[in-house]
Amino acid sequence: MEIVSENLLLPFCFILSFFFIFTSVRFRQSSSRSAMLPPGPPRLPIIGNIHQVGKLPHRSFADLSRTYGPIMHLKFGRLNTVIVTSPEAAREVLKTHDQTLSSRTSPNSIRSINHQNISVAWIHPSTARWRLLRKLSATHMFSPQRIEATKALRMKKVQELMSFMDESSEREEAVDISRASFITTLNIISNIIFSVDLCSYGSEISNGFHDSVIGGMEAAGSPDLANFFPLLGFLDLQGNSERMKFCTERLFKVFRGFIHIKTAEKSLRNDPKDASNRDFLDALLDLTVGDEAELDNNDIEHLLLDMFIAGTDTSSNTVEWAMAELLTNPKTMVKAQSEIQRIIGQNGFVQEPDISELPYIQAVVKETLRLHPAVPLLLPRKAETDVEVFGYLVPEDAQVLVNVWAIGRDPNVWENPTRFEPDRFLGEDIDVKGRDYELTPFGAGRRICPGLPLAVKMVSLMLVSLLYSFDWKLPNTVDMDETFGITLHKANPLHVVPVKKNRH
Ligand code: HEM
Repeated sequence: MEIVSENLLLPFCFILSFFFIFTSVRFRQSSSRSAMLPPGPPRLPIIGNIHQVGKLPHRSFADLSRTYGPIMHLKFGRLNTVIVTSPEAAREVLKTHDQTLSSRTSPNSIRSINHQNISVAWIHPSTARWRLLRKLSATHMFSPQRIEATKALRMKKVQELMSFMDESSEREEAVDISRASFITTLNIISNIIFSVDLCSYGSEISNGFHDSVIGGMEAAGSPDLANFFPLLGFLDLQGNSERMKFCTERLFKVFRGFIHIKTAEKSLRNDPKDASNRDFLDALLDLTVGDEAELDNNDIEHLLLDMFIAGTDTSSNTVEWAMAELLTNPKTMVKAQSEIQRIIGQNGFVQEPDISELPYIQAVVKETLRLHPAVPLLLPRKAETDVEVFGYLVPEDAQVLVNVWAIGRDPNVWENPTRFEPDRFLGEDIDVKGRDYELTPFGAGRRICPGLPLAVKMVSLMLVSLLYSFDWKLPNTVDMDETFGITLHKANPLHVVPVKKNRH
């Protein structure tokens, strides 16, 4: 044994001293090169700070920012990353330097389907293409007129959710809240886009769609060495690109089917479709014809992918977190249900305009988005050029992350930050619309989530209807454990038994 030890000691010492010389030279190099870089933890050669990020990056970054402050610099392999963790720093990124910081660093898995060159969520915001895609969605999906025109549709889909809950209530069966609200959201969005339901509560197809959306999100958000060492991209060591291709191909297939049917219908029709019957896909297909066509079918498929991936899981997750918080805070649940009962009373079902008269429910939604923002680090931004933020250098091409999850729990900003207390918003002007940098679950600036108006309507309507028509019985305890994959999920889906209360 001793001989072995002696034999190993020399090379070990050699390697160790080489390692220390190498790291200290690197640290010195980086500190002289980056005198102006924001502070950050020391890093190892080659991998940088990768080893300091756990499975829940928003939590790892929040812990590190307690030592290194509200603007810090980490290096993941070759990728400089600046992470901001205070409302003031978020304002600098999302408002003051919005122009320079609103392109994206795209994960390798996104690049594997060429999404970074086509998608509204990933292409450069100074391109005519990005402006066109944002304008199309703003006009044909999210404008106040479109939101009003699709109100009856949302109420109908939420009534179907209530009928499903009724059946489960009769059977005294626990319901997976995330899955049920996912189906409702999916059908609302698919009707706005294609005028058809994509799934029903009992069908397996919905599971396929659900799995593909979650799979796509996870493939984009999971740790991937290729994001930090681009040369490794082709090896796909974590399998994220493979998974992304598999999940998105399943979704593209569905979209292609609808594009094909509508194109055939359109060619048979003599008169243009009545405006009130036109859906989002009709509007998009109009731009594919003629010499000056602005879109092709491939562009449309990628835009639809964005709408389904960005819109479904985020919204249904928020409903699930809201229910989980209310169930673990019974006094808050009583307050929410009493307000609904007082305003809606015996009307039988919830009308969307009722929500404007429910300030406590609006506060519950904000409080849920404060503690459980569906996209805890927003989507990654990229510095176009060197830019100075709070006197620190954010170097060109650096990835910039805004940790809205940590800002939502910052004790310097919020009293009792980890408690679910919707009352904190009553009588306050703070909203989620991108003007209050302590609460930006939808981002802010020109990259702000375009689906915000629809998301807030869907989430509030589902939540109010669930609370109005049912009381909720917990078969087990509720935990608040999380998993991360761009969006934040409950690690253990919430299962609850609905107990029928009001007629609907
Ligand atoms: C509770 C629900 C939702 C949350 C919390 C949410 C949050 C976000 C966030 C944080 C971003 C990135 C903003 C940034 O980079 O600063 C984003 C982008 C986006 N969201 Fe949402 N979102 C939700 C629902 C929706 C819905 C319903 C849709 C559409 C049906 C949608 C479509 C998009 C799109 C297309 C983008 C990319 C915009 C761009 O990069 O230009 N989202 N969302």
